[in-house]
Amino acid sequence: MSNKLQGKIAIITGGASGIGEATARLFADHGASTVVIADIQDDLGRQLAESIGTHRCTYVHCDVADEDQVKAMVETTVQNYGHLDIMFSNAGIISSQDQTVLDLDFSAFDRLLEVNVRGMALCVKYAARAMVEGRVRGRIVCTASVGANHGMAKNTDYCMSKHAVLGLVRSASLQLAVHGIRVNCVSPNGMATPLTCKASGVGLGELQKAYEKFARLRGVVLKPEHVANAALFLACDDSEFVTGHDLVVDGSFVPP
Ligand SMILES: NC(=O)c1ccc[n+]([C@@H]2O[C@H](COP(=O)([O-])OP(=O)(O)OC[C@H]3O[C@@H](n4cnc5c(N)ncnc54)[C@H](O)[C@@H]3O)[C@@H](O)[C@H]2O)c1
Repeated sequence: MSNKLQGKIAIITGGASGIGEATARLFADHGASTVVIADIQDDLGRQLAESIGTHRCTYVHCDVADEDQVKAMVETTVQNYGHLDIMFSNAGIISSQDQTVLDLDFSAFDRLLEVNVRGMALCVKYAARAMVEGRVRGRIVCTASVGANHGMAKNTDYCMSKHAVLGLVRSASLQLAVHGIRVNCVSPNGMATPLTCKASGVGLGELQKAYEKFARLRGVVLKPEHVANAALFLACDDSEFVTGHDLVVDGSFVPP
């Protein structure tokens, strides 16, 4: 395997599970010198850091919706490792109830936007500040969704939040280009991860099968590793002149 991230310092939010976990493993495999897993699932995050190897991976508790915690996470990373090269802002949630317009529950709506929109913006803000101050030509990758480009049958709040991620990426990429900082996002199709299994109450195999109808591409099932590969591309020099891009990983999406 080539070392596309040799010596790089990376933070991955929502890094304890699903797409974040797969990306933490891939970044470490590609020679990142430090992968900081930031999450609120402390036991899972610590276990993952240990399984990757504590010489190159560490866990930090960080609720991305909390400005003080995000600021501290970035500042501690810079203090401990010298600078920050990569922010993979990936943490996100989905409401467990149907959030159709007619039945929107606004306490679930508010928390979802707090994590998926405010949290995403906080991570981009503090990562970008650290990169500008450290004169690092950094790379920021956010996790959006097919729901960033299409309407959704039920999850109105989630769909709105992912549209907002696109607005953030487009604005930040043009504002930060002058500093040599690239900002992009990945937009996966639906896939079975702890997030979607919990929200739907359906097991992994059954959910994978259910998601098949949302992609035209046959012969492959979308897994977190596919998204991790897309995040790696955007985080490494293979995409050196790519910024403001939304890399869809959707196997030719079939809207609901
Ligand atoms: N699974 C899908 O079908 C799918 C499709 C498109 C986009 N996404 C997006 O991918 C990202 C990762 O989702 P996943 O499917 O890997 O889910 P996951 O639940 O397996 O992983 C998400 C992680 O984020 C963490 N997290 C939740 N709230 C947090 C907070 N406030 N602060 C810090 N960490 C927090 C969780 O603890 C979890 O470890 C999310 O942004 C999600 O919206 C998922």
